[in-house]
Parts: sequence; C-alpha cells; structure tokens
Amino acid sequence: MKIACIGAGYVGGPTMAVIADKCPEITVTVVDVNAQRIAQWNSPELPVYEPGLAEVVERTRGRNLFFSADVDAAIHDADVIFMSVNTPTKTYGEGAGKAADLRYLEICARKIAAVAESDKIVVEKSTLPVRTAETIQLILAAEKKQGVNFQVLSNPEFLAEGTAITDLENPDRVLVGAEETPAGAEAARILIDIYAHWIPRDKILTTNVWSSELSKLTANAFLAQRISSINAISALCEETGANVDEVAAAIGADARIGPKFLKASVGFGGSCFQKDILNLVYLCEHFGLHEAARYWEQVVTMNDWQKHRFVRRIVKALFNTVSGKRIALFGFAFKKETNDTRESAAIAVAKELLDEQANLAIYDPKVSAAQIHADLGLAPDATDEQGCPRVEVAPDAYAAAAQAHAIVVLTGWDEFVRLDYRRIHAAMRKPAFLFDGPTILNHKQLSEIGFTIHGIGRG
Ligand code: UDX
Ligand code: ADP
Repeated sequence: MKIACIGAGYVGGPTMAVIADKCPEITVTVVDVNAQRIAQWNSPELPVYEPGLAEVVERTRGRNLFFSADVDAAIHDADVIFMSVNTPTKTYGEGAGKAADLRYLEICARKIAAVAESDKIVVEKSTLPVRTAETIQLILAAEKKQGVNFQVLSNPEFLAEGTAITDLENPDRVLVGAEETPAGAEAARILIDIYAHWIPRDKILTTNVWSSELSKLTANAFLAQRISSINAISALCEETGANVDEVAAAIGADARIGPKFLKASVGFGGSCFQKDILNLVYLCEHFGLHEAARYWEQVVTMNDWQKHRFVRRIVKALFNTVSGKRIALFGFAFKKETNDTRESAAIAVAKELLDEQANLAIYDPKVSAAQIHADLGLAPDATDEQGCPRVEVAPDAYAAAAQAHAIVVLTGWDEFVRLDYRRIHAAMRKPAFLFDGPTILNHKQLSEIGFTIHGIGRG
C-alpha cells in the first residue's frame, strides 16, 4: 500500500512519521508546495520541534518515509491520500475573522482529481467546518477522470503539540467518519486497518462524516472552554486572595470535573482552539442559532481579556509606565516543547507592551529570532529614540534579564524553573519585578531573593 500526505506541517509531518514507523510495509510520502519545508524535513534540522520526532524520522526516513516536493507523483502513486493542508481563519470577504479559509483545501482537491488515474481514498486530516467532506466529494466528482472513484473520509487529528508523538502512539481514540454506503464502509475499513497496526480496535470509533467533523470542533471548543472558565476564576482569585491552583485542585478532584485542562495562564494559544471556536460560531450563525453562537464566542472573548488583563497588571505594577523600560520575556512559543508560535499569548502580550513603548528582550529555547521578529511585525534593527533596540532576541534567559526592570514568563518551559534566580536578580534593575504567567515558579523562594512577584490567579 502507498500513502501520500499533502501538507508537511505540524500535523502531517509527525502523523505520517508515526504511521511509517508502525507500518513498515506501507510506503508513506509527505509532499508540500513549500520546497524549502521539504528540504528541511530531509535535513538534520527538522522544521518542527517535537520531543521524540527526530528519533522517529531518523528510523523511518529513506526506509518507508519520504519527503518530496513532487506533489503530482505522490498523488498518482497513492492508494490513500491524507489532506493535511492549513485551513486558517478567513481574513477577507464573507465570514472574515470567523469562517475557515478553505482555498488551500480546494486547490488540493482539484489537484488530486486532475492527477489521479486510479481509485483513491481521500482522508480529511485538517480541521474543517462541518460538511466540508461533501464539498470535497463534489469537487473530486466534477473534476475526475472517467472511471476513477474517490471516497472521502473524515479522520480528525487530536494530537497536541509538544506531546504529538506520544499522543499519536497512544491516542485516547481515533475517529473515522465515513459515508453510510458499502463503498464508504470499505474505505473506512482500509483506513482502520492502518491504525490497527498499533491502536486497539476498541479505541477506533466510526461515525458518519458530519459527526466526525463536528466532534473535532466540539472537542477543541470544550477544552478551550475549560481554560477560559478557570481563567475567569483566576481574575476573581486575584481580587479576593484565593489561589487559583488550589481552587483548580479542589474542583478537579471531583470525578465529574476531572483534573486536566484547569491550569490558569495568560490565555490559550495554538493554531486550533481560537480557529475552531470561531468556526463553530460561524456555523451556529449560519444556521440561525445566534444564542449558541454568542455562547461559544464568549470563550474567545474571555481569552482575549485574560491576555489584556495580564498586560494591565504589568503596567500598573511598574508604576503605571513601561515606556523606555527593558522588559524580559521568558518564552514565546504558545506552549512548552514546541517551536510553534501560532496564536501564542506571547505575541499579544508583546505587542501590547510595545504599544506602551516598552523595549523587549525575548528568549525562547526553540523559537528563532526571525520568527519572533516576523510575529511582532517589527524590523530586527528597530530602535527607540535613545537608540535601544525595541526587540532584542537574547541567546539565553540571563542575557534577556540583564538590566531589565521586569521579567515576564509567558511559556512554561521547564528550564525557566531551574534558572539561578539569585544571579538573575543581581543583574536586574531594582525593584526587580517578576510576572509569572503560567505560574510555574516558586513564588515564596523568589520573594525571599528580593523579587516583587505577581502570578496569574494569585492576589
Ligand atoms: C489542541 C488540542 O489539545 C488537540 O487535541 C487538538 O488536536 C489541537 O488543539 P494544542 O493547541 O497543540 O492542541 O495544545 P494544547 O495542549 O491543547 O494547548 C493549547 C493552549 O492551551 C496552550 O496555549 C496551553 O498553554 C493552553 N492551556 C492548556 C492552558 O492555558 N491551560 C491548560 O490547562 C491547558
Ligand atoms: P498544520 O498545523 O495544520 O499542519 P501547517 O501550516 O504547519 O499546518 O502545515 C500545512 C502545510 O500545507 C504547509 O506546509 C503548506 O505549505 C502546505 N500546503 C498548503 N496548501 C498546499 C497544497 N495545495 N499542496 C501541497 N501543500 C500545501
């Protein structure tokens, strides 16, 4: 059997690497229009940082896993084609800011139809609005060569970045949505046989296509909703002297609530949560379900407020002005163990601090300087009136904190917990402020060193 995956991103790359690892007799080819990205996948420096990914790629690349820029050849040869292209929020026209932009997906479907000379199973991997499979099926049917048949399956990816490899190797469930026809059932069986190489069959759920598509949006909406709920409580904790981590532990002990996804922080980021909720909001509105739309929209509103609230707290503590002050940001990725910055809370916080005329010194263990400058939309050599750099990307946390008025922790990297904070304190301006967004540090010890420390959800 031959598999092709269109889109060599954070989802396509790791997912195909694990399939190739677990199914040595299947040839897996990952293709992308971005030839530079393909070159990176074929180099020692992979474009995606994920714990364990480099080892899996090392084992499989050149054996039965291939990265190629030849999209047509991969489509032509494949029995099963995964579509793993990006589906960002639309920035133009009807539905701008909410609906999913499906143009890359449509281009991809048209390409498959134009190239295919034999039957193909086409698998939706990208997160999509409900009923997209139907659209893909229509495009494929309209453009296909005579005698060629396509079956479209929905197989949403539930991996979280930073734990992608373990999530793929040991998922809570795999979801396969198929058309309720004999041909749909047969296509589902072929896909299920691939996953059954390493996943117990009772963890592989089958549904109709639309349930599968909607389940992905709903899972992300529920997860994000938990974070917005605890973040809303964190604001109240800061006013009342309650400690949000203690509240989370107390409510999480209730088996009906459960302990996971209750960590208050600067607000959720990542490529999925906001996009998927806005997608859900758009869908609800489309069907005239305005109350349901407003309900889910509030999860995003709360998230934006959490980021904004954190910046207001920083500015207020720093005597109501950060103008011309050097502020060190520890972390820029949207969570630890990834180099991905999409929708990172760090971007919103950094931009608002820059608007307040702060100068930033940023350190992240995995995010490149070029990515940070691109996300902030500032030229790398931009300076303030005194000639100080607006955004300096530091080689380590110590360099970032030197001569800073404040440290703002934005990503919960483990290495930030292990730093020598006495050394850091000695090199900072006084009073030395520390704002712990993900609340990962030992606040008592840091206060004893001399820091004025503020944590989310702590008075
Ligand atoms: C998410 C879903 O978890 C995954 O199933 C889906 O396939 C894609 O979207 P991801 O965005 O990669 O995965 O990471 P996740 O671990 O869910 O974290 C998302 C954001 O929420 C991060 O910014 C994280 O810091 C934040 N978060 C998570 C919290 O603020 N508190 C928590 O308790 C958990
Ligand atoms: P995700 O997190 O969903 O994997 P990414 O943006 O990391 O998203 O990856 C999506 C990839 O899909 C990008 O590398 C992009 O170049 C690729 N892509 C988009 N459209 C096409 C297309 N028509 N053919 C091939 N690759 C595509």
